[in-house]
Amino acid sequence: MCGIIGFVGRGQAAPILLDGLERMEYRGYDSAGVAVRSESRGLQVRKTKGRLKNLADMIHGGADLEGCLGIGHTRWATHGEPNDINAHPHVSENGQIALVHNGIIENYLEIKEHLQKLGVTFTSDTDSEVVAQLLEYHYNECHNMLEAVGRVLRRIQGSYALGIICSDYPNALIAARKDSPLILGYGEDGNFIASDVTAIIKHTRDVAYMDDGEIAVLTADSIDVFDDELVPVEKERHQVDWDVTAAEKGGYPHFMFKEILEQPEAIRKTVSPRIRDGRVVLDTFSLTAEQVRDISRIFIIACGSSYHVGMVSKYNWERLLRRPVQVDLASEFRYSDPLVDDRSLVIVISQSGETLDTMAAMREAKRRGARTLAVVNVVGSSIAREADDVLYTWAGPEIAVATTKAYSTQLVLMDLIGLYLADLLGTVEQSEYDAIIQEVQLLPEKLQGWLADVHNVQYFASRYFNHNSIFFIGRNLDYAMGLEGSLKLKEISYIHSEAYASGELKHGTISLIEPGTLVVALGTYAPLFDKFISNVVEVKARGAEVLALTTEGFREKMGKTADAVIAVPETHPILQPSLGVVPLQLFAYYVALQRGCDIDKPRNLAKSVTVE
Ligand code: M6R
Repeated sequence: MCGIIGFVGRGQAAPILLDGLERMEYRGYDSAGVAVRSESRGLQVRKTKGRLKNLADMIHGGADLEGCLGIGHTRWATHGEPNDINAHPHVSENGQIALVHNGIIENYLEIKEHLQKLGVTFTSDTDSEVVAQLLEYHYNECHNMLEAVGRVLRRIQGSYALGIICSDYPNALIAARKDSPLILGYGEDGNFIASDVTAIIKHTRDVAYMDDGEIAVLTADSIDVFDDELVPVEKERHQVDWDVTAAEKGGYPHFMFKEILEQPEAIRKTVSPRIRDGRVVLDTFSLTAEQVRDISRIFIIACGSSYHVGMVSKYNWERLLRRPVQVDLASEFRYSDPLVDDRSLVIVISQSGETLDTMAAMREAKRRGARTLAVVNVVGSSIAREADDVLYTWAGPEIAVATTKAYSTQLVLMDLIGLYLADLLGTVEQSEYDAIIQEVQLLPEKLQGWLADVHNVQYFASRYFNHNSIFFIGRNLDYAMGLEGSLKLKEISYIHSEAYASGELKHGTISLIEPGTLVVALGTYAPLFDKFISNVVEVKARGAEVLALTTEGFREKMGKTADAVIAVPETHPILQPSLGVVPLQLFAYYVALQRGCDIDKPRNLAKSVTVE
C-alpha cells in the first residue's frame, strides 16, 4: 500500500526522493515524508499529512534539505489516522535512526508494551515506529547495524519493506523485506531502493528483486545482500525494459484517461507474441495434454477487478473446456479450507503481483499441492516469482488506481489460455478455434476505431452524473462485465452502484427501481440478447431511465426500449467484453470528472493492496 524509496550516492537525495515518491503516489497518498542525512546538518526529517505536494512545498522541492543519503515514504494509513505524527519516516527515541516501512507489523502492540516498560517513549500510533524503537534498542546492545536489523527481523511478525538510515552510518542505506515488495536499483551515481520500479527507472534499469528475509546494505558504490542468517547472497540482476514515458502523463489530463486510450496497444502486445501460425503459443506454460486431462479442478483466484476478469473467464472457460471452473475471491479462498489438491490447477490473476490476499491464497493452494499459474503485469513481482508458471500481461506500467488496461490485457490473456487448454483437451471445434484466433487479433483495430470518438460517452456522463445510485444489469458475460463497470464507477465517482444478473432482479432488487433510477443495461452478449430485452422492459415498466450498451448489430433493436444507446463493434461472443468494458470505463471516468473527483487517486484507496 505505502511506497518507500531510498537513495545513497553522489547527488542530492531530497529531489530524487520527491520525484520517486511522486511516481509512487498511487500506492498511498494520505501523508508523505523524507529523512535526509548530511555531515553538516545530521539527520533532517520532514513529514506532513495530505498529498505529496504539501511535502514538496514544505521543503521547496527538496532544496531545504542537504545530503546524499535519504529515505522517503508515501502512506496509506493502517495503524493510526493520517496525520503529521503518524507519517513516516519514524525516528528512534535518541534521534539517531530513521526508518520508512511498508507493510504491517502484527505483533507491534506486544513489542511496544515491552519497550514502554523499559522506559521507551513512543510518539505515534503506528506499528512502524515500533520497528525504529526496537532497532535502537538492539543497536545499543550490539553496536552493529546489520546485526541489530537481523535481531529486529527475528522479533517482528507480519509484512515489511524497510528503508533505514542511522547517524552512525553516514554512507549507508539499509533495507529489508518480507511479503512487501522491495527493489534494489544499481545506478551510475548511486544506488536505490524502491517499492516499485517506476520510482527509479529514470535513474537506472539495472535492478534486483529482494526476497523474503533478505537484508541489503547499500552505499554509493555497492549493494551487499544477506539472508536472514546474515550470510551474503548473490542477487540476480535484471534489466527493466519499461519505457520511462509509459509511467508519465504525457499531456493527458489523467493517467486513467491515458491508460484507457492505451488499451488497443496493450492488447496487441499481449496477444501478438502468443499467436503463431494461427495457434496459441504459451511459451512459459507447458502442461502437456496428458497433464491437462489429469486436472480434476480448475480455480481462478483474484481480488477486485482481477476477480472480475475471473468471472468473465469462468463463463468462457466452461464453454470452451466443458469443465467446471471455480472463481474465488482471494480473501475468502485462503481461509475456506479449500478443496484443492495435487490435481488442481489454480490460476491467480494480479496486475501488481503484490496483492497480499492473492499471494496468500496462492501459497495456500501450493501448500495443498496444486499447480499454480500466475497472470501478472508487473515483471519480477512476488506472485510472478512464486508461482509455478507465469504469463505476463504486457500492459506496461499502470499508474491510475482504477485499473483499465491491465484489466483488458488480463481478459484477452485469459481467453488465450482458455483456448489453449480447450485445444489440448479437444473440446473446441476447429472452426470456433479459428474464429476466436481471427477475432482476437482484430480487437486492437476495432477498439482503436471505436476510441476515435468517445464524445458520446462524455455526453451521457454529463447527462447522468448526478444520480446517486446506478444499477448495471446484464446476463452471462454482460453480468460479469457489469461487475467491473459498477466497480469502476464506485471507485472513482463515489456513486453507489450495483451490478446484477438481470434475471435475478425480480427476486428482490427490482424493488429498488423507481421512476428516474438509472439502469445501465448491458446487452452485448448476442446469444441472450432477446432474453435480456425482457429484463430491460421490466425496469422500464417501473420507471427506470435506461442507458444501454450493445453491439452495432443490436443498436436499432435496443433503441426501441432504452432511452439512450451506446454501441460497440461486434466480435466473437466470448471476446465481446473486451470491447464492451471500454465504454463503461469511460463512463466512470467522465462521471467522476463531472463530479470533480480526484480520478487517479480516489479516496481511501491505493493501487497495490499489500495488507490483509
Ligand atoms: O494488483 P491486483 O490486480 O492484484 O489488484 C487487485 C485489486 O486490488 C484491483 O483490481 C482493484 O480492484 C482496482 N483498483 C480496481 O480498479
